[in-house]
Amino acid sequence: MTITAGTDVQVRKLTGPIAAEITGVDLADLDDATFAVIRSALLEHGVIVFRGQHNLTPESHKAFGQRFGDLHTHPAAPGPEGHPEILLLKNSGKEKTITEVWHSDVSCEQRPPSVSVLRAIEPAEYGGDTMWANQYLAYDRLSDGMKRMLEGLRAVHKAFNLESVHPVVRTHPESGRKALYVNGGFTRRFEDMTVAESQPLLRYLIEAATTPDLCYRHQWARGDVVMWDNRGVMHFAVHDYGDLNRVMHRVTVQGDEPR
Ligand code: SIN
Repeated sequence: MTITAGTDVQVRKLTGPIAAEITGVDLADLDDATFAVIRSALLEHGVIVFRGQHNLTPESHKAFGQRFGDLHTHPAAPGPEGHPEILLLKNSGKEKTITEVWHSDVSCEQRPPSVSVLRAIEPAEYGGDTMWANQYLAYDRLSDGMKRMLEGLRAVHKAFNLESVHPVVRTHPESGRKALYVNGGFTRRFEDMTVAESQPLLRYLIEAATTPDLCYRHQWARGDVVMWDNRGVMHFAVHDYGDLNRVMHRVTVQGDEPR
């Protein structure tokens, strides 16, 4: 389905469960009406793809993120020179990567990021795709018995010397939709349970929440920007490009405490 919004701005779904592409937009020069279209498409589709954003600079990348709220500074990774709010993602080898796991950005924070905006500065010559999975549908699909069991359950998220406890099922503050909120990158255990007791159910939930029919996979080209809503999707950066260069900039927006 194609939705026409304004003169040239078009929103086109990319898969059944998740993601849309918006065309006719220059993120470096956005009017309020176009921003409203982007915001509402993000709420609906969870992931938005923009191609050919060659006018974007670190400054306008940050300015676009700031339209969604205050920017988050990563607790452990320094940004590029003069831009501490930009997370610089560079290939440091498959063994060292921490993004090749299903995760929601920095969920170890008390107030984890809401929105992330990732920009391909230098995509890998081949490979280096990113995948996203719809966590509203992942929750909807669970049995009534499992939903009852998860009700009120909280989980411990830990990394970078930060530890926070968040609900396993969170309610999106804007859409009111319920989404699963556990991930392989940061969620260690359920509250008041050991790691060994927690792992089997955590593993099951993350596996069930990332089946291919819940996912969109993006093959990057220079100038691509993909943004997502961490409150309703998880993502996974595929490291299949060996020692090739791959440089990405991510601007991340500070969120609220999950509820
Ligand atoms: C991330 O996890 O935000 C980075 C994704 C990527 O590098 O593709």
